[in-house]
Amino acid sequence: MPQPVTARCVACGATRPDEGVLYTCPDCGGNIDLLLDYAALRNDSAELRQALACRLAPLRKIMPGSFTSGNTPLLPAPRLGRELELPGLFLKDETRNLSGSLKDRASELVLMRAMELGLDTVAAASTGNAAASLAALAARFGMEAVVFAPKSAPAAKLRQIQAHGARLYLVDGNYDRAFDICLDAIREKGWYSRNTGHNPWCCEGKKSVALEIAEQCRYKVPDYIFVPVGDGCIIGGVHKGFYDLYELGLIERLPRIVAVQAEGSAAIANAWREKREIVAVQADTVADSIAVDLPRDGLKALRAVRDSNGFALTVSDEEILRAISDLARFEGLFAEPAGATAFAGLRKALAAGQVEPTAHVVTLITGTGLKDRDALAPLLEEPPLISSLEDLE
Ligand SMILES: Cc1ncc(COP(=O)(O)O)c(C=O)c1O
Ligand SMILES: [Zn+2]
Repeated sequence: MPQPVTARCVACGATRPDEGVLYTCPDCGGNIDLLLDYAALRNDSAELRQALACRLAPLRKIMPGSFTSGNTPLLPAPRLGRELELPGLFLKDETRNLSGSLKDRASELVLMRAMELGLDTVAAASTGNAAASLAALAARFGMEAVVFAPKSAPAAKLRQIQAHGARLYLVDGNYDRAFDICLDAIREKGWYSRNTGHNPWCCEGKKSVALEIAEQCRYKVPDYIFVPVGDGCIIGGVHKGFYDLYELGLIERLPRIVAVQAEGSAAIANAWREKREIVAVQADTVADSIAVDLPRDGLKALRAVRDSNGFALTVSDEEILRAISDLARFEGLFAEPAGATAFAGLRKALAAGQVEPTAHVVTLITGTGLKDRDALAPLLEEPPLISSLEDLE
């Protein structure tokens, strides 16, 4: 995309050209939005078509069809729709990404940007999925990935990271601690950052899920999009994708964006409910991928909800486990706890009358259950052990 890209601070509004390695706002430390030259794109339909084919990615050189991430199905969910009395229910199945989660969308774009900047090592702190996707895509690009993960991350995610040849450091502490160590390492070693809420290219990568949903709905946007929220980068990306399409005149309105957090990790939902600043919590939830004390992209998350006339809500761990079971039993989709959290939120919002039964609703299923297969164990019975046909009940 040849047009200049403007970096605008979410906190203080300062703007500057996006040049070189730029993470947070040099004036105030706030997170950054990368804004396209919307007027130029609106006025040149050939350029706009080309930009859309390249997912509106603000790279200087990019070819359509360069991406491995995404291109996931938007599945109708007729059986769950009947169960919930919500016929207009669709599931965006992000478990089908190369590494099994939506995070591939960010990792891939960040790696492409690193290449453009002439950097070959990219580092991330992660509860598991972001790092696994960075490791997988770095392997495809022949680049180096360095990962800082809390030692409590699910074993399958840690093995996945190692399988792709990434350098893995286990942090004796939680995700927030891993994040701080990773930022120090990046500063010291000159590695490129794939840290949520630190590098604005993560948000630009994740916005492609919104572009795809819009295209799959033939630019008639759904009424609601339900999104699981930890740091707030996915929901920020969803909002940014629809914002870009709106600025380009391709959609008439934004969908209402709904943030769903685990009760035990609800810094953003608390701030929304109490109409106040985001305050850190001590995160504790079965949904390890969204267990975050202080969200790193909280302002973008709150803005996504506010600007789209959406809302935020929390769900209990029991509701999350039930959602995993519902998705698996009714629609054949096996999600990890964070991956099923948005659906848990939808069930709760419907019961509370916050969503009309005639609504067209898209729920993001963000990560596969194969990486966290034991999460559902408390709800399952031991299968009977048999040695012959006579043992069948
Ligand atoms: C499967 C899954 N769902 C949801 C999220 C939440 O994304 P964010 O931290 O950007 O809010 C994550 C983040 O790690 C994740 O791995
Ligand atoms: Zn600023």
